[in-house]
Formats: sequence, C-alpha cells, structure tokens
Amino acid sequence: MMLRYSFAVLHLLALAIGIAAVYGRWRALRKVKGNADMAAVFHADNWYGVATIIWLVTGLVRAFAGLEKGTEYYLGSHWFLGKMGLFVIVFLLEIYPMVMLIRWRTALKKGTAIDVGSAPLLARLTLAELPLLILMVCMATAMARGL
Ligand code: HEM
Repeated sequence: MMLRYSFAVLHLLALAIGIAAVYGRWRALRKVKGNADMAAVFHADNWYGVATIIWLVTGLVRAFAGLEKGTEYYLGSHWFLGKMGLFVIVFLLEIYPMVMLIRWRTALKKGTAIDVGSAPLLARLTLAELPLLILMVCMATAMARGL
C-alpha cells in the first residue's frame, strides 16, 4: 500500500516539475541571445530530464508491475493507449531540442562559441509540448476512472 501510494505521489510530483520545467525552458529559450543566456535553459532542461525519468519509472511500474489495476486493464484502455501515443509525440518533438542542447552543453564545456540561431525553433518545439502534456493529464484522469 505504501509503495503504491509513494509511486502515485512521485508520478504527480513529476507532473508539477515537468510542467514548470517545460514552461521555464520555453521562457529561457525565447530570451537566448548568446552563451551567457544558456544557464537558465540548461537549468530548466535538467529539471525536465528529472521529471521524464520519474514519469517513465513510476508510470511503467504502476502500469505493468501490478501496483494499480494491472497490465490487462491498461492495455485494454483506449485512454492509456492515447496517453502513450501523446507521450511518443512529445518524445518526437523533443528529439531536435535534445540533440541541440547536448551539442550546446558539450561546446560550452570545451569553451567553444555556440550558434544560438536555432533557439527560437527550440522554443516553439518546447511550447508545442505543453498542450500535449496537459492533454495527457486529461487522458490519465479518464483512464484512472475507467471512463
Ligand atoms: C511512460 C509514461 C507513463 C506511464 C506508463 C504512465 C502510467 C500511469 C498509470 C499506470 C497511472 C495510474 C492510473 C490509475 O490510477 O489507474 C497514471 C496516473 C497518472 N498519470 Fe501517468 N504515466 C506516464 C506518464 C505520464 C505523464 C507524462 C503525465 C503527465 C503529463 C502523466 C499524468 C498522470 C496523471 C495526472 C495521473 C493520475 C490520474 C488520476 O489518478 O486521476 N503520466 N499514469
């Protein structure tokens, strides 16, 4: 019972952290003019990474380790499948920002100047993820109640 409760709490905490991080990364990316502005982007991006790991670990354990309603229930729920579909779309939208941010981190560590020309695109991609995450919450609450 305690484990089930803890995983539910962590899953919801990831939601708070994740939404704040995506919003923060979008705001930070919009303001990027040069290397000096990257700290805020990386800070938000780190928290987004933390939220994603918690989401994945707690979500998969809750769904498939018998912690909640059991694998069969979730695989038979169109809300669950829809939620996972949105998760995949968010992941696809995240590929380009992820690759660019890793490149920028590496370049800055080496002391090389970075070309921040793609920051506005990264900001738009980040913002596009926000409504999808909110839609995932709508689907999750429907899924949990067997609607
Ligand atoms: C691989 C990723 C994920 C998996 C496998 C997963 C799985 C689950 C499972 C099994 C539950 C428990 C539902 C129940 O009580 O029957 C749940 C709840 C929930 N999930 Fe996820 N989840 C994932 C990612 C996410 C993400 C990214 C979000 C938000 C954007 C999210 C939002 C929620 C919310 C809000 C609930 C609580 C629903 C409620 O009790 O009303 N999940 N999730």
